Amino acid sequence: MNFEFATRVKKIPPYLFAEMEDRVSIKKAQGVDIIELGIGDPDLPTPAPIVEEVRKHVLDPENHNYPTSAGELETRQAVADYYKKRFGVEVDPKGEVCILLGSKEGLANIARAFVNPGEKVIVPDPSYPVYAQGATTLCDAVSVRVPLQPKRNFWFEDSPAVLDRTARMIYVNYPNNPTGAVASKEYLIGLYTWCQQTDTIMVYDNAYSELTFDGYVAPSILEYGKEGAIEFGSVSKTFNMTGYRIGYAVGDSKLITGLKKVKSQVDSGAPKFLQKAAAFALSQYTGRDKPRMVQDNIRVFQERRDLLVKGLRDLGFKVDPPKGTFYLWFQVGGSSMAFAEKMLNLGVVVTPGIGFGQAGEGYIRIAATQPTARIEEALERMRRAL
Ligand code: MLT
Repeated sequence: MNFEFATRVKKIPPYLFAEMEDRVSIKKAQGVDIIELGIGDPDLPTPAPIVEEVRKHVLDPENHNYPTSAGELETRQAVADYYKKRFGVEVDPKGEVCILLGSKEGLANIARAFVNPGEKVIVPDPSYPVYAQGATTLCDAVSVRVPLQPKRNFWFEDSPAVLDRTARMIYVNYPNNPTGAVASKEYLIGLYTWCQQTDTIMVYDNAYSELTFDGYVAPSILEYGKEGAIEFGSVSKTFNMTGYRIGYAVGDSKLITGLKKVKSQVDSGAPKFLQKAAAFALSQYTGRDKPRMVQDNIRVFQERRDLLVKGLRDLGFKVDPPKGTFYLWFQVGGSSMAFAEKMLNLGVVVTPGIGFGQAGEGYIRIAATQPTARIEEALERMRRAL
C-alpha cells in the first residue's frame, strides 16, 4: 500500500522532547547513568493530600463514566475561585473556563478554533515548540517568528511595534519557557493593548505563574483585560502533577466557546477523579500567597537553581538566576546541538536551544528537576569534560 504523511505533518520536525527521549533510551540501554536535566518534569512527588484525593475519588463509581469534554462544572468553579483568590479576576465558570488534558492540547486546539489556513500566527523565538508546530503548522497556518531580545529581558524589541498587524493570533508566555524571563505589567499591558487595536487574539501561556522566586508574583493577563484574551494554566508544574494531564483555559467567552467546540470533537474530557484532585489542589489557595505545599516546592527549586547558577558560573558560563520557571538559559558559544550531544555522552541530558527556534541557537536550557546531589554530579561531570 502506498501512502504518505499529510503535507502539514511532513512540515513539522519530530517533537523536541520525544526525540530527546529516544536518544536517552539508547544511552540508558548502553548502561549509561543518566542525569535528566532536559524536559521540565519535576522529580518531586505530587503532595500526599492530592494523591489521597485521587485515591478517594477513583474508588467512587460515580467517577468512572465519561466526563464532559469542557470539564466538570465543579472543577471549572474551582478554577474560577482560584482566579478570584490568586489574581483578583472574576470569571464565569460556565462560559469562561474550560478544563484541558494538560495545557499543551489547549495551546494547540485554540488555533484550530480560530486560525484559518494561510493566516499568520506570531510566535516568539525561542519558545515552547507547540506554538509554532502543534498549533500553527498543524492548522496550515504560517508562523511569524519574532525574536525575544536578550538585552531586553527576553521581550520583543520595541514592543509591540515590530509585530505583524495582520496576524490572527499571538502566543505570549511569561514566566518564560525556555529563558526564565518575566515580564513587567507595563510590557504586558502594551502587548494586550496592541492586540486589542489590531484584532489579534492573545494566547497567554501562564503555565509557570506559580513557579517564581525572590518574592516575584506573576500576574494573569486577565488582570489587564479579558476581551480577545485566553490564558492557559496548569497544575503540572505547580503541584508536581505533569503525569495527571490536567490544565485549564480561562478568558473571553467566545474564545472558550471555540475551544470547547474543537475539544468536543476530539476528546471526551479529563477523568473525573483527576479533575477532582486538581480542584482540590487549586483550592489550597486562600489568597494571592502560595499555599504551603507550593512554597515547599519553590524552596526546593530555588536551592537547586542557586546551586546550578553558582556551578555554571564556576565553569565560566554567564548565567542569571531566573525569577520564574525552573529553567536556566545560557549561552555556550557554538552549536547548541553539539553541546547537548557532548553532555549526553557524559550522561547529562540538557536541551539544545535550537529546539526552541533559530534564536535559541548557541543557548542551552537546563531544568532544575533533579535532587542537589545529582545536580552536583552533573556539574562535576561537566567540570571534568569542559
Ligand atoms: C518543557 O520541558 O518545555 C515542557 O515541559 C515539555 C512539554 O510540556 O512537552
